[in-house]
Parts: sequence; structure tokens; C-alpha cells
Amino acid sequence: MKDHAQPRDLDGNPVRPGLPMAMLAEITHRCPLACPYCSNPVELTRAQAELPAEDWARVFREAADLGVLQVHVSGGEPGARRDLAQIVTSAREAGLYVNLITSGIGITRDRLQELDRAGVDHVQLSLQGIRPDMADRISGHPGSWDKKMGFAGWVTEIGFPLTINAVVHRQNMDRLPDMIDLAETLGARRIEVATVQFHGWADLNRAALMPTGDQAAAARRIVNEARIRLRGRMVIDYVPADHHAIYPKACMGGWGSTGLNVAPDGTVLPCHAAQSITWMKFENVKDRALSDIWHMSDSFNAFRGTAWMSEPCRSCDRKTVDFGGCRCQAMALAGDARATDPVCSKSPLRARVVARAEEDAASDTADLIYRRMKKGG
Ligand code: SF4
Ligand code: FES
Repeated sequence: MKDHAQPRDLDGNPVRPGLPMAMLAEITHRCPLACPYCSNPVELTRAQAELPAEDWARVFREAADLGVLQVHVSGGEPGARRDLAQIVTSAREAGLYVNLITSGIGITRDRLQELDRAGVDHVQLSLQGIRPDMADRISGHPGSWDKKMGFAGWVTEIGFPLTINAVVHRQNMDRLPDMIDLAETLGARRIEVATVQFHGWADLNRAALMPTGDQAAAARRIVNEARIRLRGRMVIDYVPADHHAIYPKACMGGWGSTGLNVAPDGTVLPCHAAQSITWMKFENVKDRALSDIWHMSDSFNAFRGTAWMSEPCRSCDRKTVDFGGCRCQAMALAGDARATDPVCSKSPLRARVVARAEEDAASDTADLIYRRMKKGG
């Protein structure tokens, strides 16, 4: 007899869900910036569909009961929500460590102090370039650089630990050493250097943003040298350009293993790009308890464990290291979310992926398609 309480992957193999440590709460998709590599989906959620603060409070309590230790309050720009302090307060009351991920635009010094009182523990500030012209052009927001630098000053004055999020791509990668220096000057304890991941908006901008192989190799060397130089002062997390690497990244540390995302309308996702897997059905916190979604939903169980994998992952000794790579990248590049991540050197599609990346990297276009909500949002 079939055991209905047994979680199973998409092939019906039994799986054993672990417990999530972190939750990304995308409380809004509204944002004053328009970065062309935004990780939000191309179909953005409108303000009218956003979960109210009371619902977020319930979700945070359910998350804490489930085992989540920290919440990343993000967007879009979380400051676009007038009730951000109320949302933060409820996360803190649920016992969660609160990390605010922000562009720094639209949050005044007074508001940042209010967020300090509400319980923000840590601030992550995005950086689009190391000079006003580049920062403003990439973000699509004139004046963003000055506002960000002012905001970074308030963060350290108030005493929050600061992380700088630097997304790198062909147009700014050559300035990586300056970005690392700037993060240090701003008093950051950590910088996350993340090469653009080519899903969603970034995929629309591949020709303008794809780094060259030489840039990717230089970035790896710069990060390694800076890690040694800054040991004990600033941590550097690095997401490499996997189109130019040998193996894919262990996306999300494995599907449904340590983290979950809740979209502005309450849809619960195993990763930020999961909705690009169009055949998959995702649950909503308005209909089902978070714990039930985590443990029992088809979407979270689909790619848990290793039994669902096909060759070459199935017989590969890295299958518990990178978990077959990124399911969304497999969907985007192979048209099949079950496939070995096509950036892997063992994938039969690797040569095609590299050829296309090289073609994109050789493009002389710098024109950007900006992330914007369709009219009426
Ligand atoms: Fe990872 Fe699969 Fe490539 Fe092995 S074959 S390195 S498990 S993506
Ligand atoms: Fe979805 Fe990697 S972004 S699994």
C-alpha cells in the first residue's frame, strides 16, 4: 500500500527532508532601481497582490517553528513597503535573526534608526559599480551612487554589521579590485562577489553582460589574493562565472535542503528562479502551512536526494557536492529541469553552452534591457 505520509521525489523515490536554516522573504517586487540582472522573475508581482504584514508575521512564526534561524528581508526594495518596520518587528518577535537586503535607496537615516529599533540585525547593501557613472547606468537610476554612499555611512554610524553585495559582469568585472577596496573603506565585514546568473532578466541581457573567459579567470585570481590579504578583516564570498568553470555551483546547497524563498504574494519557492520551471506547481502560505509545504509539497520534494538524477550525475562522485548543479539553469539551457546542469564539463551540452557564452562575451553591445514593472504595477 502506498504511504501517503512519505515524501517522494518526482520519480516516486522516498526522500528525507532536512530542516531549512534560512528564509528569503521577498516582501515586494517594487524597486526604484532597474538592474538588468535582477533575480526577480520577469513577470513581477504587483503591489495589490503583496502579502499584508499580518500574514508575514504568521509566516515568520511558522518559519521559526520549522527550524529557520534567519530571515533575509528582501525585494525588490524592501524599503518600498511603508510597513517594513512592522514586518521586521514581527520577524524579530518570532525569534529570527533579521538581515535586511537593500539597495539603500528610499530609506532615510531616521527610517534606518527605526529599523534598528524594530530589530534589524544586519544590513546587506547592493553595489552596481565603483563610480557614479557606472553605478547609475547599471541600476538605471540617476543619483543612486550618492544615495548609496550616504546610506552606507548611516549603516556603520548606527552600528549595523555591513555586507556589500557586488554583482559582477562584463561591464564592471575589470574593476573588481576597486570594489573590494571600496567595501573595505565602507567598513564592510563581508563582500559577496556574485557573477551574474543568467536566468530571467539577466538572460535577456546575456550579450551585454556575459564576462569573457579571461575576465572570469582574473576574477578568480583577484578573489583568492584578496582573501589572503584581508583574512581576519573582511570575508569574501564568491559566486564564480560557471559558464567558464569546470563544474557547476551547488545551487541553494541542493534543492529543498537548507533554504526557502517566499515571494511577495506568498508563493513558496525552493529558489528565487524556480518559477522558470513552468510545469512545476508551487504552493502558497495562504493555503497551506509552511511546514507542510517544506516537508510534503511536490515542488520541494521533486529534486531532493540523488535518486532522481540521470547520467552523468547518477554515477558521478560529485553528486553530493554540487547536487547536479542548478535546476533552473538546466531548464534555461537544456529545456529540462532534470538534466545535468549544462555548464558541467561532463554534460553533453557543455560545448554548445560554452560556444554560446563565448559568442555573447564577444558581443560589442553594451545596451541593457532594464528590469521594470509593466505599466499599472
Ligand atoms: Fe555535478 Fe552532475 Fe557534473 Fe557530476 S556530472 S560534476 S554531479 S553536475
Ligand atoms: Fe533555481 Fe538554481 S536558481 S536551482
